[in-house]
Amino acid sequence: MHKEEYKSKMVSLDDIVSMIKSNDKIVLAPGIIEPAEVIERLPGIADRVENVSLYACQSLQMYEIYKDPKYKKSFSVESPFHSPYLRAAQNKGRGICNAIPSHLRHYGVSLAKQKINMLIILVSPMDEHGYFTTGGGGTVYGVESRKADVVVAIVNETVPRTYGDTAIHISEVNYICENNRKRNFLPKIQSTEVEKKIGKYVADMIEDGSTIQLGIGGITNAAALELMDRKDLGVHTEMISDAFVDLFNAGVITGKEKTLFPGKMITCFSMGTEKVDEFINNNPGIFHFRASYANDPFTIAQNNKMISVNATLQVDLTGQCASEAIGTEVISGTGGQVETAIGAQMSEGGKSILTVRSTAMITKPGSKEKVMVSKIVPYLDRGSIVTLQRTDVEYIVSEYGVANLKGLSERERAKALIKIAHPKFRDELTEEARKYNIL
Ligand code: COA
Repeated sequence: MHKEEYKSKMVSLDDIVSMIKSNDKIVLAPGIIEPAEVIERLPGIADRVENVSLYACQSLQMYEIYKDPKYKKSFSVESPFHSPYLRAAQNKGRGICNAIPSHLRHYGVSLAKQKINMLIILVSPMDEHGYFTTGGGGTVYGVESRKADVVVAIVNETVPRTYGDTAIHISEVNYICENNRKRNFLPKIQSTEVEKKIGKYVADMIEDGSTIQLGIGGITNAAALELMDRKDLGVHTEMISDAFVDLFNAGVITGKEKTLFPGKMITCFSMGTEKVDEFINNNPGIFHFRASYANDPFTIAQNNKMISVNATLQVDLTGQCASEAIGTEVISGTGGQVETAIGAQMSEGGKSILTVRSTAMITKPGSKEKVMVSKIVPYLDRGSIVTLQRTDVEYIVSEYGVANLKGLSERERAKALIKIAHPKFRDELTEEARKYNIL
């Protein structure tokens, strides 16, 4: 019965592109299930359409329309969480992409309140009951985003079949297209020596039987490598990355002591190398739940000993964390940083950890010379966005140690943060803190 319906809904990639009209709002599924084959074809209709708004997230490819401002009149791109490609499309005066300030759990909920003309999503092949699944990515926007006028499913045999809120029935889909184009993945992350040191401090704070969330970036990956001798860790995370696969295969993750969904790994999405896809495929131990549920701090907090680990880019001496931009230059997005940090602090025995490399190498303005700067600073760069407020920050970890800021005064915070700053900058930071009466 479903086979007939399937056949009747079949279209080609060119048909999908030809349905796009001027002023449409089109939601493109995020990174790991992004319809690259459609986005690559968009320059072909640039002369025909104007003002098409594309909602993208964590794109894993540098498309022509992200590169060349000549397409700006036809397409604008908005994203709640930038990848390096979306970052390049927004920064350096290109202005092709624009950031949407949003917590992860609100992406789908906000989309559901808007008029969406089309949702284009990659799915795994249909089963005998008429269900596709949205692999590792569909739950980023959640089932809420399916309220689009037209839902286009691109069936790709390599999209893993996943459990949770990922099933999408053929009756919810208007058009189907088959395409087995090679999908984009993240490159394998190699941890640096500094990241390994930070990872060691973080791992030391995670006891056996804890439930963990590990955010995006090199440091959190390094932390996972230091957890190989732990017992019975559980997972309630926003993203399953390669690190979780390694921990599970080493027998570290059992979920036995979890207080919410014991024995199951809960996530909002999965993204990493192909290894992650293999891991989540047909894996009944992993539930991909809509972010509006799984990343709600109240849900997260139902896990006892919930440990949240995320990274930040710049911290001021009172503890304000800029994790998504450097000054006015957008790097990523808020994602689930605030939700997981707050959820972990609400959990019995939980901890929220933000990691920061003590320094960054930046190009000196007006020259090509690279200089080392401290990421612990007296005040955030001009135009910065505070991702995690100082009132919500708990542990900050650099390669020089751990600062627990909870309950500390500004003076105590400054002292604790200067202690974990790079030694080269400690005097300068002390002097600056004195200048504005913190010390
Ligand atoms: N000054 C100038 N540039 C800086 C800087 C500073 N203080 N700190 C970092 N940068 C630059 C880096 O050089 C790098 O640039 P490049 O990509 O051109 O090399 C870029 O910013 C990213 O920094 P890096 O330290 O390599 O980031 P990361 O891979 O460790 O990821 C975050 C860290 C903060 C970007 C990432 O964790 C994030 O997006 N956090 C916010 C959202 C979040 O935590 N969500 C929850 C988990 S998904």
